[in-house]
Amino acid sequence: MRTKTIAGNWKMNKDSDESVQLIIALKAKSPGFSKDVRVIVCPPFTSLALAKQLFEGTDVAVGAQNMHHEDEGAFTGEISAKMLTSVGCRYVILGHSERRQFFGETNESVNRKAKKALQSGLIPIICVGETLEEREKGITEQVISAQVKGVLNGLAAAEVEKSIVAYEPVWAIGTGKNATPQQAEDVHRFIRKLIGQMYSWPVAEKVVIQYGGSVKPENAAALLRQPDIDGALVGGACLKSEAFNQIIQAANPA
Ligand code: 13P
Repeated sequence: MRTKTIAGNWKMNKDSDESVQLIIALKAKSPGFSKDVRVIVCPPFTSLALAKQLFEGTDVAVGAQNMHHEDEGAFTGEISAKMLTSVGCRYVILGHSERRQFFGETNESVNRKAKKALQSGLIPIICVGETLEEREKGITEQVISAQVKGVLNGLAAAEVEKSIVAYEPVWAIGTGKNATPQQAEDVHRFIRKLIGQMYSWPVAEKVVIQYGGSVKPENAAALLRQPDIDGALVGGACLKSEAFNQIIQAANPA
C-alpha cells in the first residue's frame, strides 16, 4: 500500500520571516498532521534549516527544490546533497519543468542528480511532464517515456522503489487549469506500467507517483481518488496554510 504523499513546492517565495509565519500557520491549523499522509514541505534553500527546526516533533519532512550532482568544489551558487542532509533535508525535488525551461536541465543532468541524491540518503521527487504543444500533437506518452527512461537510467530497483515520480503536465502548472482526474490517471498508469517493464511489477507498485499542476482544495480529492495518483506536488496553493491543509485532509483516507 503506497502512502499518500503531499508535497508543497514553495518555489522562489517566502523570505525567512515569511517562512516562519507560514510554518506557524500550517502547524496551528493541523496539529500533528496525519500519520496516514506523508507531508513534505520544500521551502527555498534559505529557509530549510529553520523549517526543519520549526517542524521538529511533527511528522512533516523537509525537502529542497534542487541540488548539484557533485559533492563539493568550484560550482559557484550551487548546493550539494551533503549540505541538504546536514540541515535535516530528507527529500529533494529534481528536474522540475521550471528548471528544465529556465536553467537548461535535461534528463541526463536530472539523472546525475538523482543518483547523487539517492547515494546521499535523500529521496528524490523526480518531475516529468509534457508541454501543451506535445499533448496536442498526441506525443504525450512518447515524451513521458523518454523522460522516465532518461531520469531513471542506471538506477537500481531498490533505488527506484523509494523514489517519488511527479507527473506535472507543463500546461497545468500555475495556469489554474489542472489535468482532469482521468487525464492524470491515464499518464500515471502509463508511468507505472513503464517502470514495471523497466524493472518489475513489484517495483512499479511501490513507486509513489504524485500529480502536480494547479492542485487546489477543490480538485484534490477527485485527483487523489484515482488508483495510480499517490499524492500531489502543490505549487501556488501550498503558500496558503488553509489551502495546503485542506489538500492534506483530502489525502487522508480516514
Ligand atoms: P501550481 O500548483 O502552482 O500549478 O504549481 C505546480 C508545481 O509546479 C509544483 O511543483
